[in-house]
Order: sequence, then structure tokens, then C-alpha cells
Amino acid sequence: MLDPFGRDVSYLRVSVTDRCDFRCVYCMSENMTFLPKKDLLTLEEMDRLCSTFVDLGVKKLRFTGGEPLVRRNIMSLFRGMQRHLESGALEEVTVTTNGSQLGRFAHELYDCGVRRVNVSLDTLDAGKFQSITRWGKLDQVLDGIEIAKRAGLAIKINAVALKGVNDAELGDMLQWCGDNGYDMTVIEVMPMGDIGGEDRLDQYLPLSIVRAKLSERFTLKDIPYKTGGPARYVEVAETGGRLGFITPLTHNFCESCNRVRLTCTGTLYMCLGQDDAADLRAPLRASEGNEQLITAIKEAISRKPKGHDFIIDRRHNGPAVSRHMSVTGG
Ligand code: 5AD
Ligand code: SF4
Repeated sequence: MLDPFGRDVSYLRVSVTDRCDFRCVYCMSENMTFLPKKDLLTLEEMDRLCSTFVDLGVKKLRFTGGEPLVRRNIMSLFRGMQRHLESGALEEVTVTTNGSQLGRFAHELYDCGVRRVNVSLDTLDAGKFQSITRWGKLDQVLDGIEIAKRAGLAIKINAVALKGVNDAELGDMLQWCGDNGYDMTVIEVMPMGDIGGEDRLDQYLPLSIVRAKLSERFTLKDIPYKTGGPARYVEVAETGGRLGFITPLTHNFCESCNRVRLTCTGTLYMCLGQDDAADLRAPLRASEGNEQLITAIKEAISRKPKGHDFIIDRRHNGPAVSRHMSVTGG
């Protein structure tokens, strides 16, 4: 599937639920309104949608949320995708998780053909973890990560850089990741969705500053390593590990964007930072055959915009898009 700018759309990210057992301060307000349960696609419908994307050339699937592992019976969807991995149509199925349920599901994920997981973890300090996630327990996440590692899953830690919160700690986290054989990615806060009383201008920390600070302690060497995502990687000489930078604000990476995002209600977003979307639920439900669905997907891809317009400064202090990250899963 080629978009109007010649980008091959081969990566589908699927938010299987917008619900989450955490309430991270940069992601959600404490009192969130979630999508009505009656609007959700069933897991069978999600399987059919994902399979249609695979037929159309998607090679990589990532399940995200919200927190994907809190959706009831979610393993049946992973189980279903195994047939596409085995046929070779799909190269990879991955998951982005907050880690709270990893202890329960790590072995089964591996068994379904998942080989890599991204775990969102912004701090190793239990008190800070509690104040960032509001509802999370650090021990539970660290146990989950450990179990996932032993189950054979490669682990990448995603940390959102938060000014005055975890900036002083990112070096220690990088060392911890290196010691445990985990890759790490740092992410700039993005202006998505209302987060209640919190202010993203206060949270936002440009990664140019993070990199300069880390360079005082570590030798960072640019490498061409790519995982199909927007991160630019360096190798950390002292640990042998990799560190990625996701910089939607300071460096726009849209020119190489290969992805689209599906929500749990069957809405397809062609760009993380734009509101334009296509409803796939109606064509999915309109008939047993997939023709209408395929037409709708192709039409949507033909409208994929050139890029996002994220900006955080004093004059642009509201969300660039009204939906939260948990709707489309990053
Ligand atoms: N800006 C940047 N990252 C965010 N995440 C959630 N909301 C935001 C935001 N507004 C992160 C989570 C997780 C990933 C899916 O997105 O921490 O790592
Ligand atoms: Fe949940 Fe992830 Fe959002 Fe935190 S960032 S509230 S873990 S969806």
C-alpha cells in the first residue's frame, strides 16, 4: 500500500482497548471517559481487520492500548495472528505494554510468536513511579519485566522524558537497561488529549538536552539500526546496549512514516498528530466479504497526510489533537 508521498504502509498499530490500569500524568487525566463498550470491535472482528491489512501488505503488527493486556481474552487475538507469522505473511507481532500484566502473560506471548515487547517505564524510583502513573506499582512491573526476560522476550524500555521528574535519573536507567540487556528509548512528551490540571509545557523536555546530559557520562555513537519505528539509535559504548530517541517535537520524522493506527472501535488514523480518520467498522460489518473493507482501507491510505504539526510552547499550550495517546497507542 503506497500513500500519496510514496511511503509504503507496512506497519499497523492496533489499540485493542483505550482503557488502562494506570493513569500516567502526561497521558491521561485522573477521571477519564473511555469509549463506550458497545462501540468496541469484538476480538474476532479485530482478527478479521488485522488479517485484511496483512493481505494488503502489512508486515508488522503492534498491539497497544491503553493497556492491551487488560482486555479480556486478548491472548486469543495474539493466538490468531500466529497463523500469519507461520505463513510468512507477517514478519513480526509486537506489543507495547505498561508491564503490569506481563508476569501473567509473558510465556503465552512468547508461545504465540511474539519475540519483542516494549515496556513503558519512566523511572526506577518507586515513589516517582507512583506519582507518574498514579495507580501503578513499580514492583509488579519490574517482576513482569524479569519474567518476560526469562521467557525469552527481547525487551525495550520506553521512557518519556519529564522535566524535573526523571531527567536526573535517565543515566541510571540507561545503565540498568545495559546491565540487563534491554534496549531503551526516550520519548518527548506529545500534546495529545486533555490531561486535567497538568501542564505539558512544564513536562516537556527536549531530547537534545537529554542527549547532551547523557553524553557527559556515556559514549554515544550514532548507528543506522532501525526497528521500523521513528527512533534514531545510538550505541552506548559503556554498556554495549542501544539507546533510541523519539523526537516528534525537536526533529520531525514523518518523511519515513510507514504506519497507520487502528483504534478499538475500528477507526483508522493515518497520522498520530492529525485528526483525519476513516471508519472501518461500518464496511467491516456491512458484509461477510471484505471488498468494502478493502476499498475503505485503500481510500484511507490515499489520504495519509504528510505529517503532524506538534508544537509545545507558550503560545501553543493546548493539545494538538483532542484524542489521548491511549486511543491510538503511540
Ligand atoms: N507523549 C509522549 N508519550 C506518551 N505516551 C503516552 N502519552 C504520551 C504523550 N502525551 C507514551 C507512553 C508509552 C507510549 C505508548 O506512549 O508512556 O510509552
Ligand atoms: Fe496507561 Fe500507557 Fe497511558 Fe500510562 S501512558 S496511562 S500506562 S496508556
